[in-house]
Amino acid sequence: MPQPNAVKCLVVDDEPRLRRVLVRLLEGEGFSCAEAGSGTEALEMLQHDPVPLVISDLRMPQMDGVTLLREIIARWPTTAVIVVTAVAEVESAVACLQLGALDYVAKPFHLDEVRARVMQALDKRSLKMEVEDYRRTLEQRVQEQARRIEELSLERLQALVHFLEEKDPYTSGHSVRVADYSARIGRQLGLSPAVMDAVALGAELHDIGKIGVSEAVLHKAGKLTDAEYRHILEHPVIGARILAPLMRDVPTALAIVRSHHERLDGKGFPDGLKGDQIPLEVRVVGVADSFDAMTSVRPYRPALSVQKALQELEDGKGSQFHPPAVEAFLAAFPDPSALPVTTPEVRPLHLPPPPDAHRRSAPPD
Ligand SMILES: [Fe+2]
Repeated sequence: MPQPNAVKCLVVDDEPRLRRVLVRLLEGEGFSCAEAGSGTEALEMLQHDPVPLVISDLRMPQMDGVTLLREIIARWPTTAVIVVTAVAEVESAVACLQLGALDYVAKPFHLDEVRARVMQALDKRSLKMEVEDYRRTLEQRVQEQARRIEELSLERLQALVHFLEEKDPYTSGHSVRVADYSARIGRQLGLSPAVMDAVALGAELHDIGKIGVSEAVLHKAGKLTDAEYRHILEHPVIGARILAPLMRDVPTALAIVRSHHERLDGKGFPDGLKGDQIPLEVRVVGVADSFDAMTSVRPYRPALSVQKALQELEDGKGSQFHPPAVEAFLAAFPDPSALPVTTPEVRPLHLPPPPDAHRRSAPPD
């Protein structure tokens, strides 16, 4: 009598007499056996109750053993299959081994031989599963390590951005405030947590390309020459180039870095993108970046008042700015006296979850 925790086995043969012989043998070894008279019946039974071991005859009407074997390997790859063949069919049995059967027994068989093959097949199965488990764990560890290395590189870049900003009283705290404004707009728009993570990353690193812009040009108090202006316009492209190797899995953040100076009317830079060509997350950061820039002192002009900056956002709706993002900004700050925000504390950046976990929950715009 099989034990309640006995290993389950399915015996497939169109000859009831042979099935019974195998079932008796396996039950004698403590297996819990089910029987199927055809391949089709076997697949139906496995569908409801997959088992670790199948012993199947090769020659059966309707569905032969090879077809059944292919189905089992494809649908239940951890199931061990032993095929039973006539001596004259040894070539087919070898073909079955190549397809993934773990062993075969030739008829007429000795019971001791079947017993030994079954035990060996189950051992092989356990080993295969252990190897597969080990491979999966190893793969996961490698991915985690790679991710950690990318995060450390991002932290260094983040530190560099803040170092450069702090050196210049005009830009001090700009990136963290832009990230803060962007987060508040994003929350109003109902962006998902994964998208919000990507926005935080892109917003905080959006001006990293200024590393590649001459400080003399960045800090020039007077009017820029055409060449100097063109030089500053390069910073989104430089930033995207710096971050591309680290942000393969976060295209949204990369798009924010490259396109945060694009405008809805196509008059922005570097690509002159228009309307829907500019991703929603980029438009969110565009509003945040402009508001912070307007309310900060620049070498060439004083800070605009909050009221004037809000008016600029309002006036730029539809031409420079995405109207729902402007409205979300206004909804996030119903009391303008809360503006501009105090510069938040810098926190370490994290890479958002892998792309397949991303879901955008914002309403269509
Ligand atoms: Fe910028």
